[in-house]
Amino acid sequence: MKILTYEKIDSTNDEAKRLAKQGVPEWTVVVADRQTKGRGRLGRRWHSDSGGLYLSVILRPPLRTGELFPLTLLMAVATVRTIRGLFNLEAMVKWPNDIVFGGKKLGGVLVETDRQAVIAGIGLNVNNDHFPEEIQKETISLKTILGSKSDPGKIVEVFVQEAKKLYQHFLKKGSDLLIEEWQLFSDLSHPWVKVSTPAKTYEGRILRLGSKGELIIKIADGKIKKFYSGEVTKVR
Ligand code: BTN
Repeated sequence: MKILTYEKIDSTNDEAKRLAKQGVPEWTVVVADRQTKGRGRLGRRWHSDSGGLYLSVILRPPLRTGELFPLTLLMAVATVRTIRGLFNLEAMVKWPNDIVFGGKKLGGVLVETDRQAVIAGIGLNVNNDHFPEEIQKETISLKTILGSKSDPGKIVEVFVQEAKKLYQHFLKKGSDLLIEEWQLFSDLSHPWVKVSTPAKTYEGRILRLGSKGELIIKIADGKIKKFYSGEVTKVR
């Protein structure tokens, strides 16, 4: 495994894609202290000031496109394991790709594919604690929680160990254990949610995750519906 570190990059996911094109091995990891074009889910901007952790892993899983979604959950579980293990903090996951603490967003996962590889990008608010006004209320960093700075290098080291273990198990045995652990890390104390998709918003109760990582909801009229993407908010 090789870790390439940059003080500044456009996006670690973009750099990982460029490296993948050159044929670098699996588990090459790109880490930056800041990004000028950090990307979030749904084409959103990922605020990427210095002090945050911006990391991308190059993978070449023997999977079809439709089988890749559990990798997002896998990266979230590896991140939560890392935070819990290193800092003893109750970090949680929020479907589909958020890392949260006390209901606030601590990080996120963005898995992208191109012909050469699958790129798993993770953004984690570590020592950065200034966020734009519009996301300030719902965002938090490790520095704010802990009251002191953390070593991003150590976080990367433990994260890669955890992600590798989960990945090897997932490829050999499938997603069952991963989905189970993800559910243990998810806050289902208020399982009534709204799921917004571009077409429609549904309201119902979260039942569980399916084996592909899809969210299974019992919607108000009693029907069971599976979601492969969407925005989830608690309703009561
Ligand atoms: C999200 O919650 O919307 C996902 C955010 C993912 C951000 C990370 S930071 C490292 C990698 N490079 C990017 O441009 N995005 C991901």
